[in-house]
Amino acid sequence: MSKHQASGTPRIGILTAGGDCPGLNAVIRGVVKSANLHGYEVVGFLKGYEGLVDPVSYLALNHKNTSGILSQGGTILGSTNKGRFAATVGVNDRCEIDPELIAGVKTTALQLNIHGLICVGGDGSLAVAQQFHENGIPVVGVPKTIDNDLSSTAFTFGFFSAVFCATDALDRLHTTAESHERVMVLEVMGRHAGWIALYAGIAGGGDVILIPEIPWTFDNVCEAIVQREQRGRKFTLVVVAEGAELPEKGLVTQDKHTPDRAETRKQVRLGGIGNYIGREIERRVGKETRTVVLGHLQRGGNPTTFDRVLATQYGAHAVRLIVERKFGQMVTYQPPDMSDVPIIEAIKLATVSPICSAVQAARALGVSFGDDYRGRPFQYTPPGEKSAADADDHCGARPAKAVKSSKR
Ligand code: F6P
Repeated sequence: MSKHQASGTPRIGILTAGGDCPGLNAVIRGVVKSANLHGYEVVGFLKGYEGLVDPVSYLALNHKNTSGILSQGGTILGSTNKGRFAATVGVNDRCEIDPELIAGVKTTALQLNIHGLICVGGDGSLAVAQQFHENGIPVVGVPKTIDNDLSSTAFTFGFFSAVFCATDALDRLHTTAESHERVMVLEVMGRHAGWIALYAGIAGGGDVILIPEIPWTFDNVCEAIVQREQRGRKFTLVVVAEGAELPEKGLVTQDKHTPDRAETRKQVRLGGIGNYIGREIERRVGKETRTVVLGHLQRGGNPTTFDRVLATQYGAHAVRLIVERKFGQMVTYQPPDMSDVPIIEAIKLATVSPICSAVQAARALGVSFGDDYRGRPFQYTPPGEKSAADADDHCGARPAKAVKSSKR
């Protein structure tokens, strides 16, 4: 930690806020290398936004102390998803940051000669950056979260590393499930979005995928298991997102009570649905069932190659935004290009569209989402005739290009 000191050289500040994920260090390294090349020094504020004020705590970042961190998980700056800087309550309900804190950040920026502050975070953390921007603090955003639930960017970094971890778990569960002819339930993270469950479910050959965006029933899940049995497949892999809702009961949380519908928008600590589902499957189907809750393993460890490339690009392009004085913007990945959008647009929640191409592909392979869908997702409709998809709201037969959802 350095002393609070001014410098004649223009500086860029960077902080990592919210829950950590693989790739944060790759962003930091990308920022430092690129910033130095453009004539800036870099300071890294410690423990998210907390390091910005009272007591100001930061690390002067340079080639030496960022060398070798590209492949390391976690963040050398530390992070927190609690603390004094909160711009939202629940899921994206705005609250105002204490004006004294804002004034403190301005003073720090002035004293440290910060020409641009790079805030690396998910929706909650970027909502703080948005209020900084509204108050004249020169910020740019970088989208981070394993949940991949930010609009305007195809992928957040950290997502594919989490998917890799969940897929590896499924590969391992596959062999033991087959040996013992069991049902295996894997609960993965993702908050109120089913991206991790969907992608890992596809990559790991899941048979049933349960996500918050597609309502499901135990009858349908058990039917899928029984049908597999009848086809001679004596084991089943079920992947469930922590934010999937139990039929009629809603979210499962680690809080003492089950939240009612009105409470579901609050920032509850999710987790536990896997065990519930495992017990219920065993009771209904009479097959031995085991549950694994993957938890924070998905947030730890080294970033995948894709996340290293993505995070490095985010870092370099965040510096570009500062060089171009495009403050209040967030870097986005819109394949194959890096671009940027106003932070205010980016912090909207992006969930899985039930008719997106990934869901269609999974259905085409016979994966069950626990809903009533029984059809074939791809059908030929002669020109001029109304397709089955147009006649059905959620059957999944619509081509991906017709999907109006926020991403993919
Ligand atoms: O947002 C990332 C995430 O890992 C979610 O998938 C999960 O619900 C939550 O954070 C866990 O938060 P914490 O680390 O506070 O338990």
